[in-house]
Amino acid sequence: MIPLPVDIQYKKGEFQFNTSTGIYSTSNLQKIVEYFLDLIKESIGYELKEVDCINNLNSINFILDDSLRNLKDEGYILEILKETIFIKAPTAKGIFYGIQTLRQLLSKEPRREKIHKIPCLRIEDYPRFKWRGFMLDVSRHFHGVDTIKHILDLLALVKMNVFHWHLIDDQGWRIEIKKYPKLIEIGSKRKDTKIKTWWSKKYRGKPHHGFYTQEEIREIVSYAQDRFIKVIPEIEMPGHCRAAIAAYPELSCQKEQKEVPIKPGIFKDIFCVGQEETFIFLTNILSEIIELFPSEIIHIGGDEVPLKQWKNCTKCKSRMKAEELKNTKELRKYFTKRIVNFLKSHDKKAIGWNEILYEGIEKEVIIQWWLRNKSEVLNHIYNGGNIVSSHLFHLYLDYNYILTPLKKTYSFEPIPKKIDEKHHEKILGIEAPLWCEWVPNKERLEWQIFPRLAAVAEIGWTLKENKNYKKFIQRLEQFYKILDEFGVNYAPLNNVNPSRAYRIFNLKKAFKWPEI
Ligand code: ACM
Ligand code: ZN
Repeated sequence: MIPLPVDIQYKKGEFQFNTSTGIYSTSNLQKIVEYFLDLIKESIGYELKEVDCINNLNSINFILDDSLRNLKDEGYILEILKETIFIKAPTAKGIFYGIQTLRQLLSKEPRREKIHKIPCLRIEDYPRFKWRGFMLDVSRHFHGVDTIKHILDLLALVKMNVFHWHLIDDQGWRIEIKKYPKLIEIGSKRKDTKIKTWWSKKYRGKPHHGFYTQEEIREIVSYAQDRFIKVIPEIEMPGHCRAAIAAYPELSCQKEQKEVPIKPGIFKDIFCVGQEETFIFLTNILSEIIELFPSEIIHIGGDEVPLKQWKNCTKCKSRMKAEELKNTKELRKYFTKRIVNFLKSHDKKAIGWNEILYEGIEKEVIIQWWLRNKSEVLNHIYNGGNIVSSHLFHLYLDYNYILTPLKKTYSFEPIPKKIDEKHHEKILGIEAPLWCEWVPNKERLEWQIFPRLAAVAEIGWTLKENKNYKKFIQRLEQFYKILDEFGVNYAPLNNVNPSRAYRIFNLKKAFKWPEI
């Protein structure tokens, strides 16, 4: 089982799961029952039926039980007895996670057998962290609706609950915005794409494009909701916005017409914050985003912003003068504040990469910590702010296994050393990003994320004292059989933990991503 539950007690005997096993549930769980019936049909080919009374022989019972509040919002108890199975939880979410555990236990038997035997046991389980996320960049390479749904299924399987959707970046704008059609007409297309690696001179030699209609966005959000996954959209600002500027050059300081870039990197062209038009544009976009995404948290990006153009821009200079801002760093603070306040006035909270931090930042702003700014991040925590940990060297899934082996990811501890226990709850959890510069398709995507996503899930869910790398690897072998059922192109176990010597001698390969 991945992630490893809090407590497992094996008992004598086994439950025999077969085609006449019935499903019973207390009220309000209809959607979950339907999900479970579909899941079972897909995974082992059974068409199970609902029964109308609890504790039938040969039945699985989903029971909402308010007295289990000690399991918090997401915990559950899974009891496998000889005649019946119980999944009990205080919330529907808990029942859902109990189902995921049961589903993994069922997969131990050969697929499409008539009878599945599951050992009798009692599992009591709840997560260590409440934020267990995965981020996907769909700008550098577009991944379509079916791939996103497939990823959501895999996230649910390992009890992850946040899908952070990096919808825009320099190399492509991927979400339909009704008010600004050129974002799609121009911003979602580029002429070519650099391939192989950062310093390569090779290009694919064909255009790349793609975007989600608002209808598709709603469909995915609803699909995620059925799996208890919160979708957090990211609208990058004030940098990483070349695709938007290609569509609306008047939004940049220099106002020059430029194309959607065909290579990755950090671009100096950013939004001009000296003019009101930029704020009107961004808040209009955020208004559409708020309508589309029920999440109370919206990601405003904010990483890697070169401030040089602001320094030389008449409008930005006037703004600094009018607002009595000493430098471009203060102008940046002014910008972040305005956006955060806009979201706040719509009852939404902002999350941003750690570069958005400034002294005295509103404590409601969540910081996604990926690199540097340690003292600022710790101060944010001490001041009552929340963070999500996305450590570059452990949790970035876009690196090769030579650079970021499975063991390194697994060993990550999200709570910084020496931080007082009373602040621990301020670390909401973890998120593993996949940046897609070198991830052109689903196969490469799956190779990058599995098995490391299983390790990420276990960091997020399993109690620290229960983590054990050797045992994780043993469970992973079993887990690969489930990934096989999902048709996942994972990296084989003998590839994901290269020896130190191999890593040193093959460092060059660490920055090569052969196209699958
Ligand atoms: C980042 O990796 N630029 C957040
Ligand atoms: Zn400007």
